[in-house]
Amino acid sequence: MGAFWRWLPEIGLLRLVLGIGRKPLFEYDDHYVMLNDIGRNHFYREALENFLARTLERNRELYPKTNMSVIAQLSAQVDADTLGRKADLLVTETFGTMQGDRLLKEGGEIIPAGGCQYVTLVQMSEPLWSPPSWRGFNLSRLEDLQAMVGASSTEHIKLSKRICVLELDLYEATPEQIPKNRTFWIQMQQSGTIDAALFDWDIWADRSKRKVLSTAQGSRNFAGDVAWGWLLQPQEEAAEGWRFGDHPRRQEVKAGDWVQVAVEFIATGISMHLRARSVHAAGGLEADGMLPPVSSPSRLHGIPRQTIKEANEFLLPVASDQERHDFYAEALQSAVRELAFRPHTLLDCSGNAGLPGFYAAKHGSLRSLVMPGSEHVASILQEIAEENGVEGAEVFAGDPRQMFDVLLPEGRRANIVVVDPPGTPLHGRSPFAILPALRKELLQDTGLVVPPLACFEVGLLESHELSQIFSIPNGTWEEVDLQVWNEEARRQGLLGRMVPYTKWLGAHSTLRRRWLSQPKCVYHVDLNGYGRAPVSGEETFRRPLAVEAAGVVHAIVGRWVVFAEKGPAARRLGAESAYEGRDLTWPQYVQAVARADTNPGLLEPLPVEAGAVQQLKVTVRLGAAKVTGSAGPEFALQLVGTDHDDVSARRGDSVRRASEAPTEL
Ligand SMILES: *[C@@H]1O[C@H](CO)[C@@H](O)[C@H](O)[C@H]1NC(C)=O
Ligand SMILES: *[C@@H]1O[C@H](CO)[C@@H](O)[C@H](O)[C@H]1NC(C)=O
Ligand SMILES: *[C@@H]1O[C@H](CO)[C@@H](O)[C@H](O)[C@H]1NC(C)=O
Ligand SMILES: *[C@@H]1O[C@H](CO)[C@@H](O)[C@H](O)[C@H]1NC(C)=O
Repeated sequence: MGAFWRWLPEIGLLRLVLGIGRKPLFEYDDHYVMLNDIGRNHFYREALENFLARTLERNRELYPKTNMSVIAQLSAQVDADTLGRKADLLVTETFGTMQGDRLLKEGGEIIPAGGCQYVTLVQMSEPLWSPPSWRGFNLSRLEDLQAMVGASSTEHIKLSKRICVLELDLYEATPEQIPKNRTFWIQMQQSGTIDAALFDWDIWADRSKRKVLSTAQGSRNFAGDVAWGWLLQPQEEAAEGWRFGDHPRRQEVKAGDWVQVAVEFIATGISMHLRARSVHAAGGLEADGMLPPVSSPSRLHGIPRQTIKEANEFLLPVASDQERHDFYAEALQSAVRELAFRPHTLLDCSGNAGLPGFYAAKHGSLRSLVMPGSEHVASILQEIAEENGVEGAEVFAGDPRQMFDVLLPEGRRANIVVVDPPGTPLHGRSPFAILPALRKELLQDTGLVVPPLACFEVGLLESHELSQIFSIPNGTWEEVDLQVWNEEARRQGLLGRMVPYTKWLGAHSTLRRRWLSQPKCVYHVDLNGYGRAPVSGEETFRRPLAVEAAGVVHAIVGRWVVFAEKGPAARRLGAESAYEGRDLTWPQYVQAVARADTNPGLLEPLPVEAGAVQQLKVTVRLGAAKVTGSAGPEFALQLVGTDHDDVSARRGDSVRRASEAPTEL
């Protein structure tokens, strides 16, 4: 997370934002990754050793037995009365609450003693926020939605040195000392385009700064990266007066160039915004005090924060996904071929920046109704349609389920509807959520769904690093017994629930992992059949998962994949892609695995042999049988043993083979 003094409130905020009726892009319990952040554990242990021996020795006579009390309170709600007295030593990570004055006695020690917030100017390895044109469609208008909201982990090239923009001494720091803003000159070390500012930080144990805990990339283990993260804030060139334009200007720099940056510390550093500009754009140097507030470009004023966030985290990376556009074009062509007559109307309810609709209008002469969720996105898509000479496409903001009369007033139903792949992390746009209503009101009985087929594929993964996100793999850190954390994880249903871990499992993630059983389809959905009649109930079946490599299984990983048409040669679109934006926009779900006979305080992975066949028990619940309120099928997965010790299958459970025809819903 961005600033070192405020990670706690930010994690809280993230939870809050993700919690409002939205499917989160990823999820994890902070405690596990922090406990598995070995570097951090050592930092605090070593830092404490310096002081503990002092503090403990001095108090040994008074306190012959170790006496530790745990106060389950937010530090902001703890005062000297709660403690009984003020402390000799304050160990803190809740920077910013200024506990020093309230909880620490005069002359007491603070760990860490201080820290620094760093910034590096970087170029992204791939454009995530500047969609390149696709088959002649110029999408650059979408860049207007680029904002400084930030992504957390993507590949990049460092163009500048890492510079300290704010150093704090926690002994002395008061909220008043955090400036409102600062300006710096940074010399470029490499030529390129400044796409983003990378924020990370260091803290030091004592004022000598010899023991440092850093969040810079490459300085921690994977759990540490997940726990602390870093922040990439998209950048565009600021102009005179530090303001942004109506359209983002890419800032090209050459090695040796000097770039001026201004950092705003908003609400005593709860948030930070960086603006950069080249010398030629500076037009004379204003004093620091002249920095005008530009938390976001004026072109974004009036657009809800949620829309901007979704645009930067989803719409822009999807709009830059050429492979995805090719897939939709092919699926569309296949649907047109399949219809025995010339189609006239298409509904595009997908989140693909209107492209399937525009493409069908321009190259197939269809009347296309494109339906993005937000008004602001709709007006940009309208401009894109005009700029690209697309006739016959209309853009409507809103939920197609509430727009029957507006969309097709003459009651003439559409021939084709375009939907997102299942699992798309956008609220309310799941094909499962909208298809029943579309079938009933907007789509012809013979009308076709694009894409027509989806399947849920499941594989078995070996990854020690992944298991550190949801457990304490050994149940210990050095000699400290942490088994209670694994017991708690189990109590909370860790082994029976699938959690989206989207970006950690993407093709570009640094998570070290190995498929022991490659993902394969275990459940097919014919989207053309879905929603024709309400279905409810629960079915259970088994799928054999062939183990290709020997190892230990830490997790069952599931994810959706869609197909452009029927048949084994159909083009597919799934989680795997050379394009990094796919990592951020395609959910993968993880269910932890533990050997059946593991002690509850441990989470020992399941050893498997190459060539063995694991039986996966799949329970699918539909309609009223579901436990959660989400749209579409709900899965419960369980490994129930290998082929030879599979007893219950012989008892007559419905056993199906994965090669069977797609399951009709
Ligand atoms: C530990 O300290 C607290 C507060 O000083 C005291 O009330 C309690 O009796 C002590 N417990 C032991 C076992 O010494
Ligand atoms: C794409 O459109 C933008 C306006 O949205 C325009 O400034 C730019 O020159 C166009 N690019 C090309 C290659 O035509
Ligand atoms: C920048 O800091 C100066 C001096 O503290 C202050 O007068 C000015 O309002 C600040 N500008 C912003 C945008 O916070
Ligand atoms: C503890 O777990 C790690 C993987 O997280 C493993 O590499 C290591 O060998 C384990 N150590 C012990 C003592 O089991």
